[in-house]
Amino acid sequence: MTEGIFGRESGHEQVVFCQDEPSGLKAIFAIYSTALGPALGGTRFYPYASEDDAIADVLALSKGMAYKNALAGLDLGGGKAVIIGDPATVKTEALLRAYGRFVQSLSGRYITACDVGTYVQDMDVVARETRFVTGRSPDDGGAGDSSVLTAFGVFQGIRACASYRWGTTDLTGRRVGVSGVGKVGHILVEHLVEAGAQVVISDVSPAAIERVLAAHPDVDVATDADELIATTLDVFAPCALGGALNDRTVPKLRAEVVCGAANNQLATPDIEKQLVDRGILYAPDYLVNAGGVIQVSDELHGFDFARAKRKATAIFDTTRDVFALADTEGVPPATAADRLAERRMSEVGRLRSILTR
Ligand SMILES: NC(=O)c1ccc[n+]([C@@H]2O[C@H](COP(=O)([O-])OP(=O)(O)OC[C@H]3O[C@@H](n4cnc5c(N)ncnc54)[C@H](O)[C@@H]3O)[C@@H](O)[C@H]2O)c1
Repeated sequence: MTEGIFGRESGHEQVVFCQDEPSGLKAIFAIYSTALGPALGGTRFYPYASEDDAIADVLALSKGMAYKNALAGLDLGGGKAVIIGDPATVKTEALLRAYGRFVQSLSGRYITACDVGTYVQDMDVVARETRFVTGRSPDDGGAGDSSVLTAFGVFQGIRACASYRWGTTDLTGRRVGVSGVGKVGHILVEHLVEAGAQVVISDVSPAAIERVLAAHPDVDVATDADELIATTLDVFAPCALGGALNDRTVPKLRAEVVCGAANNQLATPDIEKQLVDRGILYAPDYLVNAGGVIQVSDELHGFDFARAKRKATAIFDTTRDVFALADTEGVPPATAADRLAERRMSEVGRLRSILTR
């Protein structure tokens, strides 16, 4: 796997391995691109089965961040970091601060934030060693939990899908299935209910379902994700784990539109063709779930929620642009989204070759 770092399939600018034995820190930073600015992306703290698994994950995630940040219109490149280990047992102040010092050592080429296994409070600790960190507590001037604008951005994506597919952004009476009502999913349900949609949810956690029902008793509950997928829906919103769209689920899917927060929804790249063949409109995940990175990146300028929300509202227009490009170039939306992101990285990134003082 490691030989892939220099291969065509990788193309990363920089990969850095860091170790601090006394605290047990083992971290890998991957910077895919700084064409548009410092590489922003979260820190995933996860008990990887092997170093190769950790490397594969950080390479894929950092590339994904470069595309996400480019498409979100941010002046930021893409990077990501992984810390190898079980956060429940090895996360300590010393480990997080050692990690912060390594972030600082990259001199701002990489800016970190939360991801799976790291939380706002962890970023507060990391911030004691580096200024290249975002997603800190609101009490510390941070942007806080990024789920708020992630859910809002996905809602904008659903409105854009509705306007493209049905000629109206009005979701009144539309049946929307939300699979996974965790941090993002339960806020998305709020937006949908407010917009007059009929919402059906599923979650493996009874507590997550209870929280939604306590606020919205009229929401329907499917027994599991499989039942939700097979339900008659206008929109299916995957908001749990990756791989929700696969060879097993797509043939059963009854929705006309798929638009949700989960990262890496397509289990394999060929799944998108199956969606196209079935006439299902798919809003690329990294396009519509960019509200979170928009929220935390705003903290770099002194966090202003209203400004960040305005930027996340633009996900509506970008989603429409992606569908328009897909039509013009005769490609699926995920390919169109990649092309838009690559164009911005290339066209705007090139401007850095013009010397300014
Ligand atoms: N939080 C963010 O700002 C953000 C930003 C971008 C993308 N995402 C992505 O959105 C997704 C949700 O993120 P989150 O922060 O809400 O996570 P979360 O862990 O708070 O919520 C996920 C929910 O999915 C449920 N779940 C797990 N397996 C399930 C299954 N098989 N069927 C139904 N429900 C299941 C969990 O019980 C949980 O309630 C993830 O894929 C995440 O990577 C999140």
